[in-house]
This record gives sequence, structure tokens and C-alpha cells, in this order.
Amino acid sequence: MLDTHNLQLDQNGRLRHFLTIEGLNKALLTEILDTADSFAAVAERKVKKVPLCHGKIVVNLFFETSTRTRTTFELAAKRLSADVLNFNASTSATAKGETLLDTLRNLEAMHCDMFIVRHKDSGAAHFFARHAAPNVSILNAGDGRHAHPTQAMLDMLTIRRHKQDFSKLCVAIIGDLLHSRVARSQILALNTLGVEEIRTIAPRTLLPTQIESLGVKVYYNLQQGIKDVDVIIVLRLQKERMAYGLLPSEHEYFRLFGLTEDRLSQAKPDAIIMHPGPLNRGVELSSQVADSNRSVILQQVSNGIAVRMAIIAMALGNTKATS
Ligand code: NCD
Repeated sequence: MLDTHNLQLDQNGRLRHFLTIEGLNKALLTEILDTADSFAAVAERKVKKVPLCHGKIVVNLFFETSTRTRTTFELAAKRLSADVLNFNASTSATAKGETLLDTLRNLEAMHCDMFIVRHKDSGAAHFFARHAAPNVSILNAGDGRHAHPTQAMLDMLTIRRHKQDFSKLCVAIIGDLLHSRVARSQILALNTLGVEEIRTIAPRTLLPTQIESLGVKVYYNLQQGIKDVDVIIVLRLQKERMAYGLLPSEHEYFRLFGLTEDRLSQAKPDAIIMHPGPLNRGVELSSQVADSNRSVILQQVSNGIAVRMAIIAMALGNTKATS
């Protein structure tokens, strides 16, 4: 296992890189959520900016497609007054054969302060963190099936805004957990924040073996799994990572595991519905459910900006949102 704990924190226990939830304690996760809360009001201002990271250069290094994550990271950095560079792997030197390390060294030579990395390979952000110059921070924006820690933190902020106390919550995660970096990070964050119960609901072919060892209860039946839950997280079928034959058809998946109004009646009446996006209507959930007043899916997107502001500011060492 990678020694990410030492890699992520500096000698004083402050966040330097943000690569995974693994090894971070409740106090640090809570500090991220509290800092995000203090930044949320910036969105309501006439001038949506604070000067906290003025003069810093943040690079979005996306080697894999993204809509929400890339744009909300960009907005977050801009709201902190940083300069943002968007590096598009398909049109960059990477496409001409440059190695990851050479790409890093070239961008460091331009005196960039932070790299936000998304890559199809698990461990890519760790690789950058291990090789980065001492004054450079690396944030993981999703690596393979491994981790997507800022998504998990924006999900935690969304849950906290609706449910306050984590310790009394039962959270169900439905869908393709086998290929989901989001689910792994969510389970780690929910456990660290002390939720009472985490359930995973999926066909056997879409659950990692020994998932129980992460501290979750496994259900193969949706109706049973969502009984009396407070929070329902629906995941996308990650077809781009799926081997042939794991599922009979999308239609069959929806028939057994699709979240519909009717099935939702099993959950608590005030249960909220979440999805990291992009969502497939009629596959993971019905349009009715996606657009219902219990759905907080678009709030997750807005909360993503505040959480990413918090993590960028903490890693760059400047978090007082008063100016
Ligand atoms: C997720 C991702 O890329 O891992 N999406 C996101 O970041 N908003 C989940 C997904 O692609 O299904």
C-alpha cells in the first residue's frame, strides 16, 4: 500500500497534497467542510472573488474527459483569484509521446504552484505527488478506479447540509461499485465521519470482492437495501471500464436496480437522492426521481465549487475567507 498519509500532510499535519481520503482523520475532513461552508457565500456576491490565492498558478491537468469536475475546479481557483491554466492532454505534448514526468518538469519550470490531475490510471496523482518539487501541490481529480476524493468531500458537504449529524445516518450506495472511484472515496469519508450504517446495493457482478471489509453491508435487492435509509447515492454504470458480459442489458439493469418513485417509498420520507453525474436517465434512475424535490444532484454541483475552493486554499496554505 502507498504511504499516502505522509505524502499528503506536511510536518505540521497540514494538507499539502489531496490524493485520497485514506489516512485523513475526522478533524481534517471536518475542517475541509467548515472551510467550504465559509466560502459558499462568495457565490452570492456581486463580485464572486476573494483574493486569497492571488498570484498563484493552478494547472488543470486532465488526461481523461470531464465536465463538472474540470469546470468546478477552474471556477473554484478563479474565485480564489488564482490564475488557471487548462492543459488538454489530447492536444498537448503528451499526445506526441512526452512522459508524465517530463510534462510535470516543464510545467514546474513555468513556476506553477498546483496541479489538479485526472488520469485513467490508478496512482497517477500519487506519481505526480512523489515527484513534485517541494513547493508544488497535487490534487487528485480522479485516478482510474482508485479515488475521487474531492467528489467524496462535496458529497459529504451536501449530506451535512441536509442531515447535520453523520452519526445517526444510514446511507445506501447503489450501482456499479466495481468500477467506481467515487464509491471507494465516499465509503472512506462516510466511515471517517462516523455514519451509523453504509449499505451497498448492486448485482453481484458489479460489486468488488470483499467489499464488506470496507465496513459496508451488502444487498443484492434494491427494495430491501433502501428500506429506511436517509441518503441514497446512485452511481453511473461505468461502461467505459466494463468488461463485456457483466450485465445482460441496460433495460434489465433498470428493471432490477433502477431507482423509481415506487421503490423510493421504501426509504425514509425525507431521504435525499444523490448522483455524482453524469447521470443516465432510465438506466440508473427514472427522470421523475432525478427531477423530484428529494433530488439534490444539482446542489452537489454547486457544493463542488465551495469544497474545491476549500481544498485548493488549504493546500496553498491560505484559508481565511474574510477579505
Ligand atoms: C465521476 C467520475 O468521473 O469518476 N463523475 C464526476 O467526477 N462527476 C463519476 C462518473 O463518471 O460516473
